[in-house]
This record gives sequence, structure tokens and C-alpha cells, in this order.
Amino acid sequence: MARIIGGMTSSHIPAVGNAYHRKLFQDPYWKPFFDGYPPIHEWLAREKPDVAVVFYNDHGSNFFLDKMPTFSIGAAAEYRNEDEGWGIPTIGTFQGHPELSWHIIEGVVEDGFDVCSCQEMIVDHGFTVPVQLFWGDENKGAIKTIPVCINTVQHPLPSPKRCLEFGRAIGRAVRSWGGDEKVVMLGTGGLSHQLDGTRAGFINKKFDLMCMEKIVDRPDELAEMSIHDLVREAGAQGAEFILWLAMRGALGDDVVKLHQNYHIPISNTGAGTMLFEAVA
Ligand code: DHB
Ligand code: FE
Repeated sequence: MARIIGGMTSSHIPAVGNAYHRKLFQDPYWKPFFDGYPPIHEWLAREKPDVAVVFYNDHGSNFFLDKMPTFSIGAAAEYRNEDEGWGIPTIGTFQGHPELSWHIIEGVVEDGFDVCSCQEMIVDHGFTVPVQLFWGDENKGAIKTIPVCINTVQHPLPSPKRCLEFGRAIGRAVRSWGGDEKVVMLGTGGLSHQLDGTRAGFINKKFDLMCMEKIVDRPDELAEMSIHDLVREAGAQGAEFILWLAMRGALGDDVVKLHQNYHIPISNTGAGTMLFEAVA
């Protein structure tokens, strides 16, 4: 049976993709952010997962406001990145795992989540930046990916509780797959940030740290929040925290937190990085 061995979280800020490309790892502005990743690189080098299920949100690259599915899952053999206009060079394709994708899609639909299946999907910085941060351009070929996209851009957004339950359904589907893959769950985006409007630049460190603490053992408490609570406390785009809750749901009941890093600001965002090991 496939095994979910753990999960990671990372912000997915476009400027990070640029800094990565320019190798600014030791630059004083970027160092406290990039220093959050080597402990996760060591864990990945030891555990060697085969598949990453990536909970992310599309920012207008694959879906636009005219068509906005709440939950969508990639079922392609590969996923392409396209220029979003941030000045980040596009990176090569990401390998998919269509057989496992379809198994997950069948599982979650049976479980009551009527997802949009995507046999073609362009992935944007929400997906590419975290995969690059965890595996690097050199090693990204070592991992097969399954993009799971949750709408965080056009209201109504799915509630935190719904996203936690969606993650749990994905976890059940992965555990029922007959292959022997080792699977990791990625939650991308967040933490607090608001990119536009009168609160542009809003960051809430206290709230971010509370979320990072509770997500370990008390995700259901966080899932009591409404989307409006989340927007108020974390900013309009801080609602991306629902992606972290979906990741946490997929890990199963018990996890051990192995590592965390929090740094502000990175391009007006509270940047949170975490590593969890799933307890079988
Ligand atoms: C920015 C964009 C994002 O998608 C995000 O999650 C955080 C920050 C940005 O443009 O700064
Ligand atoms: Fe984002």
C-alpha cells in the first residue's frame, strides 16, 4: 500500500522564485528565509519520497475568474509552467502520476467531493516555487507530482473545515492505493498577507504563529474559523491557509513536527515553513 510519510508547508511568493534563480541564499534579506529549508532537504534526502501531492492555489494562470472550480486535481503525465509576468524564468515540466491521480479523484468523488479533473494543467508559482524550494531545480525530476488546486481567489471560497475534510479524503484515497509509493503532502501559500486594498501590506505575526502551533495537534480548532475570520486575521490572500489545513488533513490524525521556520517580511508576506512526519 502507498504510505504517507509526512508533509511540508511553504509560502509560494513569486519574489522567492526570483531570489532562488539569482541564488541569493546568503543575501542578508533572504538568508533568514532560505535557512528554513536545509533541515527539510536533509529529511527528504533520507526519506526519498516518490510522490508529492501539492495543495496549492492557481493565481489566474490555469483558471481565471470566468471559470473557477472550487477543488480541482491534475491527472496529467506532466505539468507545464508558463510565464506569469513576474520576471521569473519558467522552469521545465513537472512529472505527474496519472494512475494515482485518477485513483484519488475516484476516491474523493465517492467521498462526496465533486472535483474537477484536469488532464491538462498549467502550474504557476503557487506550485512551482515550493517544489523548487524543497527539491531544487536539480532534483525535481526525482519526484512525481499531483497538483491539487483549491480556489482561494474568487469568493465564495471553501471553508477551512471543508478543506480539512477534503485533505482527509485525499489521505484516505492515497492510503487505499495498491502501489508501494512513499508520498508527501505539500501545503503551499500563506501565511498572513494582503496584496491589495486599504490593508495592503497587512501581516499578523501573532496569528501566524498561533496557526503554526495549532496545526500540529489541533487542526480542528483552526477549522472552526470561517473564511471571513481568516481574511480578517490573515489578510485577503492569507486565506491561502486553507491549503495548509488540507495538507494537514491528508497527513492523518497524528503527526510529529520536526522543524519550523517563520520569517517576516518576505515581499509583504509572513513566510512559514514546516516539516511534519506522519505517525502510521
Ligand atoms: C505574493 C503572491 C502570492 O501568491 C503569495 O501567496 C504571496 C505573495 C506577492 O506577489 O508578493
Ligand atoms: Fe499566493
